[in-house]
Amino acid sequence: MKTFKGILLAGGNGTRLYPLTSVMSKQLLPVYDKPMIYYPLSVLMLAGIRDILVITRPEDESMYSALLQDGAQWGVNISYATQPNPGGVAEGLLLGETFLDGSDCVYILGDNVFYGAGLSGFLTAALANNVGATCFTYSVSDPERYGVVELDEACNIKKIVEKPVTPPSNYAVTGLYVFDKTAPEKAKKLIKSHRGELEIVDVLNLYLRDEKLTHQKFNRGVAWLDTGTPESLLEAALFVETIEKRQGYKIACLEEIALKNSWVERDFLKQRAEQNASSSLGQYLLKILEK
Ligand code: DAU
Repeated sequence: MKTFKGILLAGGNGTRLYPLTSVMSKQLLPVYDKPMIYYPLSVLMLAGIRDILVITRPEDESMYSALLQDGAQWGVNISYATQPNPGGVAEGLLLGETFLDGSDCVYILGDNVFYGAGLSGFLTAALANNVGATCFTYSVSDPERYGVVELDEACNIKKIVEKPVTPPSNYAVTGLYVFDKTAPEKAKKLIKSHRGELEIVDVLNLYLRDEKLTHQKFNRGVAWLDTGTPESLLEAALFVETIEKRQGYKIACLEEIALKNSWVERDFLKQRAEQNASSSLGQYLLKILEK
């Protein structure tokens, strides 16, 4: 079975969240009880990925590395790269080329929050079946805000368009992608869009042209939450709070995922939990370790 590396894109200026983002990187803002970046990081870990590159703005790198360190506390290897200017979502594939070193990858945007039963199995199956690239679509009521797929009668993708004024469907392309090793080469072929950015949908369209693009629909049981505006950020936080309080389980608890994946020892986790016993995370870890 192939090994996939992970790239987590956490740059950008987060202008729609200003002044929240005037001194703080968007993906470090809280979504209820943890920083936003924990959510996409949890998705990579749920997909079984252990080698992860986090791409940030140069001025934010020290904060991300202070927060996430080298990942050993969760049994993963985290390294860092910087993006001097927000040149577009697809630029991360160019910045990550050396890190990838010819590997396939899972590419995820640092402001995307996913939650749902069976996510781990769904993702590992998508990785195992990937030929070329896979994108994940989600039915939304406001597709014009995203990359959108145009489908034919057989539900095959005809084209993907970025933020179309008249969306060809309600299926938005989420910020989670699986790419084979040719992705950096494809990204090199891109030209900037009218927004002045290298668009990730253009990478997907290159795979489509080669008949090597698959799409997987997330069903209604999976939540894909937006965090791009003050309202959606608050709604995402309330969603996480509601689920966590009702179920007694935490969403995107990296320590718990590491334990389930057998990437860390119970004793190591117990020590960390005891050190943080005054926090809800510490108490939660002590509770799951008792089970
Ligand atoms: O969230 C899914 C959508 O993400 C997709 O449907 C779109 O096709 C894709 O282009 C992207 O659209 P957005 O408008 O949401 O992209 P945004 O500029 O907000 O950036 C998404 C994330 O990537 C955000 O966490 C910031 C980060 N980013 C963005 C750019 C442009 C970078 O790290 N560097 C960048 O240059």
